Amino acid sequence: MKRYHAPVWDEPLIMDMGRPGRRGQLFPLEGADASLVPEALRRAAPPALPEVSEPDVLRHYLKLSQQVLGMIGISLFGTCTMKYNPRLNEAMAALPGIRDVHPQQSPETIQGLLDIVWRFDTMLRGLSGMDRFGFQAAGGADAAWTMACMARAYHASRGEAGQRTQMVTSIQSHPCNPATAATAGFEIITLPLGPNGYPTLESLKAAVSDRTALLMINNPDDMGIYNPEITEWVRIVHEAGGLAFYDHANFNGVMGKIRARELGFDACMFMLHKTFGVPKGGGGPAVGAFGCSQALAPFLPGPLVIQQGKGFALETPAHSIGRVREYMGNLHQVVKAYGWTRAMGAEGIREASDISVILNNYMETRLLKIPGVTKSHPHITGWRMEMTRYSLEGLFEATGVSVMDVQNRMADYGIDAFWLSHEPWIVPHPFTPEAGEAWSREDIDTWIDVLAKVVEESHADPEMVRSAPHAQAVRKLSDAVLDETGATTLRAFRAE
Ligand SMILES: Cc1ncc(COP(=O)(O)O)c(C=O)c1O
Repeated sequence: MKRYHAPVWDEPLIMDMGRPGRRGQLFPLEGADASLVPEALRRAAPPALPEVSEPDVLRHYLKLSQQVLGMIGISLFGTCTMKYNPRLNEAMAALPGIRDVHPQQSPETIQGLLDIVWRFDTMLRGLSGMDRFGFQAAGGADAAWTMACMARAYHASRGEAGQRTQMVTSIQSHPCNPATAATAGFEIITLPLGPNGYPTLESLKAAVSDRTALLMINNPDDMGIYNPEITEWVRIVHEAGGLAFYDHANFNGVMGKIRARELGFDACMFMLHKTFGVPKGGGGPAVGAFGCSQALAPFLPGPLVIQQGKGFALETPAHSIGRVREYMGNLHQVVKAYGWTRAMGAEGIREASDISVILNNYMETRLLKIPGVTKSHPHITGWRMEMTRYSLEGLFEATGVSVMDVQNRMADYGIDAFWLSHEPWIVPHPFTPEAGEAWSREDIDTWIDVLAKVVEESHADPEMVRSAPHAQAVRKLSDAVLDETGATTLRAFRAE
């Protein structure tokens, strides 16, 4: 096992650095004409900025980045399929014709960018069978919100807004499904899991009625279990007059294998910042690509790219719910996802899906040999899809070491914090690693070896594991300190 210790720098704040007169850039004053700057915009006094050289600035931010906990080691972040972000796609999105575009520029001046959006729309139609895509939603939760608003508008257009007040989902859905539907005014019906690991058809039938507006569901769910009765689910909801929305967050294991529209769904969403190799922007510059059937397309948020003559124009659909985000959303992310999809090709996408399922089941076989590790629904012996939810309850009972302690201790070996579970935790001490297609077998083996080592350590020296991390720039954070105003700086948590 490789030894690792994060650097710990006694780095001052940038505002406390520098010397008067030190410069990073020199601007030519010759020929400068101060009169070009309007009087009212001129500074009365120089700005209070640190005077530092370019190497000082570079070293400062490099040191800060070295103290960051995570996203530089092996990251197996389940339910989101966090992927490597190819440098080439970053370079494409940084081309001046994309980077420097202003959202209010007229469509004639951004034909190339609109062409990329249109082509990517067409690719996602191919992957889903849907008729139309919009890219305004800034993430999966935003796309779920789009669906809730569109369902409301769709039923209202048929005179059924007052009647269709319920949204049906499963306890295994991402919390954004019930949360966005509730925000849109729907009453939420949450189905419990049945013996096969997904809700039974009987429970669905009992929940669905002429009051059903919408079903929101992911498949496979976060346990990695695929519900093979899904077409029957959609049929039941449609028969009652409701709409069906496929939350495709867990698309990785079924990419190129199934198409949401062919399963009957009216709409679906893909997270470009997860499945399509785009960086996850922490609630910022992400995209929840939202696709729907022809019947729902008139309600999509606008503007959308349309073909016009030999070029492209922008159009807002007739009964649009309005904007869910500014302009056309985070289009530079669409460019990156377009690059990823073109590079993979249809065959590559199918192969990536196979690799993710094979790697997950390879992991599962090794992980279940570690004492104290069990999987959710152990009686379901079939292969899981691209991820499996495990439990460390056995380890906790034997040693008092929790899954979060293990997560912290694994960071001491250069492993990024892994994903636990969305709320509610129906599996105690849950963890959900997901290999995806990008990590090598050696990386996966290292991850598993580290977990096995930490389990051993938990038996030999539980206090050492409980107080981890020990090889990081920061020590274990105490919740109590987090509540103390003024104590939440890096300095307060610095390792001794
Ligand atoms: C199943 C599922 N749906 C929706 C979301 C929400 O996506 P986002 O984080 O892009 O808002 C997630 C994210 O974890 C998810 O796992």
